[in-house]
Amino acid sequence: MTYIYLDNSATTAPYPEVIRLTSAVMKEIYGNPSSMHSLGVAAEKTIAKARRRIASVIGVRDKEIIFTSGGTEANNLAIIGSARRNRNRGNHLITSQTEHPSVLNCCRQLEKEGFRVSYIPVDKKGVVNPETLGKLIGEETILVSIMHVNNEIGTIEPLTEIGNIVKERNRSTILHIDAVQSFTKVPVKFRQWQADLISFSSHKIHGPRGAGCLWIREGLLLEPVIYGGGQEKNLRSGTENTAAIAGFGLAAELSARANVENDGFLISLKLSFLEELKKSGLDFHINGPDPEVGAPHILNLAFPGLNAEVLLHSLEAKGLYVSAGSACHSKHPEPSHVLSAIGLDHKLLTGSLRFSFSGMNRTVEIKKAAIITADTASELYKMF
Ligand SMILES: Cc1ncc(COP(=O)(O)O)c(C=O)c1O
Repeated sequence: MTYIYLDNSATTAPYPEVIRLTSAVMKEIYGNPSSMHSLGVAAEKTIAKARRRIASVIGVRDKEIIFTSGGTEANNLAIIGSARRNRNRGNHLITSQTEHPSVLNCCRQLEKEGFRVSYIPVDKKGVVNPETLGKLIGEETILVSIMHVNNEIGTIEPLTEIGNIVKERNRSTILHIDAVQSFTKVPVKFRQWQADLISFSSHKIHGPRGAGCLWIREGLLLEPVIYGGGQEKNLRSGTENTAAIAGFGLAAELSARANVENDGFLISLKLSFLEELKKSGLDFHINGPDPEVGAPHILNLAFPGLNAEVLLHSLEAKGLYVSAGSACHSKHPEPSHVLSAIGLDHKLLTGSLRFSFSGMNRTVEIKKAAIITADTASELYKMF
C-alpha cells in the first residue's frame, strides 16, 4: 500500500544520495579512523570532510564540532558536561518545562547530584518569557538550556532576547540551545543568540540515525560524559560511526540547500493541509503557535473528544502516518508534558496529533492527507 508520511519530526527518510554514500563508506572505508594505515586514514579523512560540511552549513569552525551518536547525546554532553565542569562556580541551572526529555532528564539527573534546576513555564503558545527567565539568573547560574524549535508544537523560542538577558545578568552563564528540530529549516543564528553550545541530529534532516553533533564555542571547556580512547578531542570517546557521520555531513548540505532553493515550501504544505481541513467543516483546534508564526514543518491539532491513539491507528489503516505527542513519548500513555505546559484542557489533550512535514512530501499528497484526516475524524465522531 502506498502511504503518506507526516511524522517527519520523529524521523525523516534518508536522501537516496545519503543512502548511497553511507553504503559506500561502510563497504569501502571501514577502517578505524584511529588506525595508522591507509584504510584508517581514509576513514579519518571522511570524518574530516563531514565535519567541514556541517561546520560550513552552520557557519562555524570545523574544530568546534564534536560528533555524537545523536541529539540526545549532544544534549547530555552539553548539560551534564557543563554542570560537572563548572561545579566550583555554582550549582544552578535553568531550562523550560517544554524541553525534550533528553534535556529534562539530564536536569533531573543533575538534581540527584546536588544541582538546583529551575523549570520555567511557557505561555499558551509555548513561548518562554525572557524577562521571567532573566529574573531567575544569579551568580550561581552556570547554564541555561532552551530549545530553538519545540518538537511537539513547533514554537520558535525568542533566543535573541533570551541570549541578551542571560549574558546581561551573568556573562559567564553558559547558553545551550537544542536545535535538533530547527536545523536547516529555521536559521540557527548562534552569534545573535550569544550561544555557547548547540545540539544537532542527523536523522531529522534526512541523514542516517546514530549521528549528531554538539557545536562548542571555541574556548569553552566541558567534562566528558563518555570515557575511553579519547576520540573527538577527549570529549566523546568511542570508535566513530564513520558511515553515519559521512551521511550526516551530506544530509546537512543537501537539506540546507533544498530549504533555501525551495524557500516557503514547508510552510506552504502546512497551510494547504490546514486549508483543506477547514474546508471539511471539521471541529479542530490548533495547539501552540499560530501556523504562520511557528516552525514551518510542525502542526499540532486537537480533535476535541476523540482519542488520539484511536485516531492515529485509524489514519494509519488508511495509509497516513502521524504522531501522538513526540516519538520518544509514544510508548508512555501519560499526556504530553508539552501540551500540559501550554495549559490545554483534558478534552483537547487526549485528542491531539502532530502532523510534521518535510521537503520529501508533495503538495498533492498533503491535500489527500487532509481529506483522509477529515473523513476519519468525522467517522469517529459519529461512532462515539
Ligand atoms: C528537540 C529534540 N531534541 C533532541 C532530540 C533527540 O535527538 P536524537 O533522536 O537524535 O537522539 C529530539 C528527537 O526527537 C528532539 O526533537
